Amino acid sequence: MADDLCSFSKVPKKSPLVLRMIVLVFAMVCGVYICSICLKQVSTRNKTGYLDLEVIERPCPEPSIEPEEVPYVHYPKPETYSRAECACNPVRYFAILSMQRSGSGWFETLLNNHTNISSNGEIFSVKVRRSNMSTIAETLDRIYNLDWFSSASKNECTAAVGLKWMLNQGLMQNHEEIAQYFKRRGVASIFLFRRNLLRRMISILANSYDRDFKPLNGTHKSHVHSPLEAEILAKYKPTINSTLLIANLRQVAETTAKALEYFKSTRHIILHYEDIVKNRTKLRDVQDFLKVPRMELKSRQVKIHKGSLSNLVENWDDVQKTLTGTPYESFLHSDYRREKLQSH
Ligand SMILES: *[C@@H]1O[C@H](CO)[C@@H](O)[C@H](O)[C@H]1NC(C)=O
Ligand SMILES: *[C@@H]1O[C@H](CO)[C@@H](O)[C@H](O)[C@H]1NC(C)=O
Ligand SMILES: *[C@@H]1O[C@H](CO)[C@@H](O)[C@H](O)[C@H]1NC(C)=O
Ligand SMILES: *[C@@H]1O[C@H](CO)[C@@H](O)[C@H](O)[C@H]1NC(C)=O
Ligand SMILES: *[C@@H]1O[C@H](CO)[C@@H](O)[C@H](O)[C@H]1NC(C)=O
Ligand SMILES: *[C@@H]1O[C@H](CO)[C@@H](O)[C@H](O)[C@H]1NC(C)=O
Repeated sequence: MADDLCSFSKVPKKSPLVLRMIVLVFAMVCGVYICSICLKQVSTRNKTGYLDLEVIERPCPEPSIEPEEVPYVHYPKPETYSRAECACNPVRYFAILSMQRSGSGWFETLLNNHTNISSNGEIFSVKVRRSNMSTIAETLDRIYNLDWFSSASKNECTAAVGLKWMLNQGLMQNHEEIAQYFKRRGVASIFLFRRNLLRRMISILANSYDRDFKPLNGTHKSHVHSPLEAEILAKYKPTINSTLLIANLRQVAETTAKALEYFKSTRHIILHYEDIVKNRTKLRDVQDFLKVPRMELKSRQVKIHKGSLSNLVENWDDVQKTLTGTPYESFLHSDYRREKLQSH
């Protein structure tokens, strides 16, 4: 009994310590629990913050798009302005690859007549921009980010943006890196060539004559907007150096073939100036290629040299003799006789 009493009396003595231990353990468990909840909340808040960021960066899902189109569809965010309500209008990148006097100026005015196309001109005619691949890439980045301003710049609803790039403007020298850039960034190539290289040669000679003598009231014009101006410019008949003629034509044809080879692995379309002049529905192919809505496209430019070639060259007999029996003989005969549309 005493033992019992004793043991009984010992319990209350021991119990504060046990209780204290229990409270302590309880407090520790609670502390750890609260801490873990806090940490969880902090981390979930971080996560949702991160998700929000991601949503802002890729705000325009395009569920209807085919998988193979994904590399060619872009949502640029210009640094200098906001695309506003058009931020989710996809943009395609293109480059018109051409040669001087192949109708690319006219072609570009047609493209720029489209509400949603901006073709910014011969940007690489300025030498420093094509100094090396880093200046080229920097320039292209700005164009494709819609941060390039030219008379062709459209509003924020641009759906296709690009430039006109002549083969001799750094394009052939840097072809490997440029083709890589095109593939990496999903840039489509629009090849625009002229079938009749003899006509192109006449246009080059006449254009350089115009640059030197400026018959249009002292201003040099590569392109004209009135039939009168075209008539004045067409009065000049160049003399073609027949010694160099074949070699020149061959060189142009080879350069064209090389360009096609270098850029054939990019998404591309091949156009010929003569085909567009003859058949304006070719412009629909281009609009479909760029995935822009089809529109009727107009240019104010007027064609300078029309009619039969024999009337356009001073030493026609010479030229005829030189080309007869060569692969270039067909250039002598093909002209625009069969079409009604002689001016642009
Ligand atoms: C397209 O050309 C027509 C006729 O010249 C003109 O009225 C129209 O404003 C042009 N559109 C654009 C976007 O330049
Ligand atoms: C590229 O050209 C620019 C302008 O001429 C020059 O400042 C730059 O140093 C060049 N970069 C390289 C890598 O050669
Ligand atoms: C083309 O531009 C018009 C007017 O700016 C705009 O309403 C339209 O959404 C654009 N279309 C595309 C395909 O971006
Ligand atoms: C040249 O200038 C005169 C006077 O300004 C003008 O009447 C004429 O039409 C101009 N000619 C051409 C081809 O622009
Ligand atoms: C044609 O070009 C060659 C080589 O440049 C030159 O020797 C020749 O004098 C030129 N002929 C004419 C008629 O200009
Ligand atoms: C004109 O071009 C379109 C599109 O490329 C083609 O379908 C059509 O057959 C061509 N018409 C003629 C007469 O060549």
